[in-house]
Amino acid sequence: MEPTPDLTPYFAIHRKQLVDTRRYARAVEQATEHERSDRLRSLARWAAGFAHELDEHHTVEDAIFFPDVRSRVPSAAAVLDGLEEDHVVVEDLLGRWTQVAADLADAKVPFAPAKAAALAVATGLRDLLDQHLEVEDRDLLPLFWRHYTASEYDALHDQAVKGGNKQGLAFTIPWYMAAQDAEHQAMIAARSPLPVRVLWYATRGRFARLEQAAFADVEVDLSDLRPVVPQPASSRR
Ligand SMILES: [Fe+2]
Ligand SMILES: [Fe+2]
Repeated sequence: MEPTPDLTPYFAIHRKQLVDTRRYARAVEQATEHERSDRLRSLARWAAGFAHELDEHHTVEDAIFFPDVRSRVPSAAAVLDGLEEDHVVVEDLLGRWTQVAADLADAKVPFAPAKAAALAVATGLRDLLDQHLEVEDRDLLPLFWRHYTASEYDALHDQAVKGGNKQGLAFTIPWYMAAQDAEHQAMIAARSPLPVRVLWYATRGRFARLEQAAFADVEVDLSDLRPVVPQPASSRR
């Protein structure tokens, strides 16, 4: 029997998106005017990178993963319709996300309205992703276990990587690797082209410092989170 796809990296991306939107919303909630010259600038830089990552994630889902599942699993149509509708709402939120984060750090913009605007966008995205990712993890990703072999899924994944946007990689590569456990970091690095490995090595320290500067002293409640991978790989078909 063919092995089932290794979906751990995909689930891990969703977990980091979930955690990151929670801690970003909390960071905005805690923001004070005197942090505008330091922490809020880091938070704005981080927010711009995260917007790019999330936009790229949804682009490859819409262009590559979802159409393939739709053609292979007709019964998934309703789930995919709902997920695609969510992506449109996310796109609208991301259209404001980077600017309101920049305004929050900008001393020329009145602080109270800037904070209110940033908080509305941050909590809106957090709450939407919370339910969106639950649906993807529960109703979509397991379809790859049931309807794809490991090599079929890997081919789809390779297509997504090849067709991906090459902008913003100094954020998206270390972000993606930071989402993974040590075992998958090593596996992904081993099969990545040399330029990707070099970029990861070159950017991961700076990325870690950016996250540290943006989220120092930001604590979020993660006690309700389900396991990263919700169920063991079941036999396919
Ligand atoms: Fe997703
Ligand atoms: Fe999605």
